[in-house]
Amino acid sequence: MWQRLIEKAEKEHRLCEGEIAALLSSPAAEEFLAAAADRVRKRYVGDGVHLRGLIEFSNICRRSCLYCGLRRENEKAERYRLPPEEIVRLARKARGYGYKTVVLQGGEDSFWNVDRLSPVLREIRALGLVITLSIGECSEAEYRALKEAGASRFLLRIETTDRELYERLDPGMSFAARCACLASLRRLGYEVGTGSLVGLPGQSVASLAHDILFFQALDADMVGIGPFIPNGETPLGKAAAGDIRLTRRMVSLVRLLLPEANIPATTAMETLARGARAGILRAGANVVMPNVTEGDFRRKYALYPGKAYVRDTPEECRLSLREELSQMGRFVAEDAGFRRRRSIEDT
Ligand code: 5AD
Repeated sequence: MWQRLIEKAEKEHRLCEGEIAALLSSPAAEEFLAAAADRVRKRYVGDGVHLRGLIEFSNICRRSCLYCGLRRENEKAERYRLPPEEIVRLARKARGYGYKTVVLQGGEDSFWNVDRLSPVLREIRALGLVITLSIGECSEAEYRALKEAGASRFLLRIETTDRELYERLDPGMSFAARCACLASLRRLGYEVGTGSLVGLPGQSVASLAHDILFFQALDADMVGIGPFIPNGETPLGKAAAGDIRLTRRMVSLVRLLLPEANIPATTAMETLARGARAGILRAGANVVMPNVTEGDFRRKYALYPGKAYVRDTPEECRLSLREELSQMGRFVAEDAGFRRRRSIEDT
């Protein structure tokens, strides 16, 4: 039964929620799903892997998400905010490593308003780098100003499309507001990235299937999927971690159903299972986001414990990655890695 579904997904890139849920629930389907996703990945986005240098520029956050170590109630978090010149310095280093894109990621930190962020974006743009922002919810006017200052892409995970679960896990936030932010980003012409956490307490497989339909409806350019990892300093500290195999099936289904999307092998995957990154790159993913944050700040940006690569330097990350890719018959892509739209006839 699932063989037929995988064939259909590989050919038509369309499944209904029940069909997606059936595949997500079939551990036996996993390798077939991964193989099909790997073929679709090769056909639509090729063997080049896009590297995005991740700069974790502030871990100060006004939000209170029950799963996240940066939540404002977490007094154990050692808070920091990189100064503007340090952010630009890291961006320059990222360019030196050959990265074409930097991702500026931070908590929802009111210090970093449009007026403070814009000059930093202009300087980084002037280096010839493409800028992705991952700074949470802003007004449409703010998103517009940030785009004018030089940002071209934005990552804002929906986390879960189960509205009730979303609003329980992210107190004070509204699912409708999150969707409105994604709609604003789309309207403004950003490349839009979203994604979800797999294995949140109370999350159903049907809702994960629904997440994928949501990514399709949004026509997401980028989709980041990672397992939930319990953080002892949060209210969900004793909950079970997300299932790495289920997460892998989820990544493969995202590739089958959004064939053109840029899909990262996330650090959370590697954190739960060392070596998982390669497995995910063979199961549909085509992007890696090497951390270019330096020194102790890597440890302090603690969304979840045990974060992979925390003790490596950016230089070590870069070299081991190149090695890993070449062993897989893949290579570091030379272009900036914008989404390429292809008609069915091209493939
Ligand atoms: N486990 C895994 N991922 C997490 N994130 C936040 N907290 C955790 C956790 N405990 C993810 C969220 C967010 C991204 C930056 O990090 O999905 O969007």
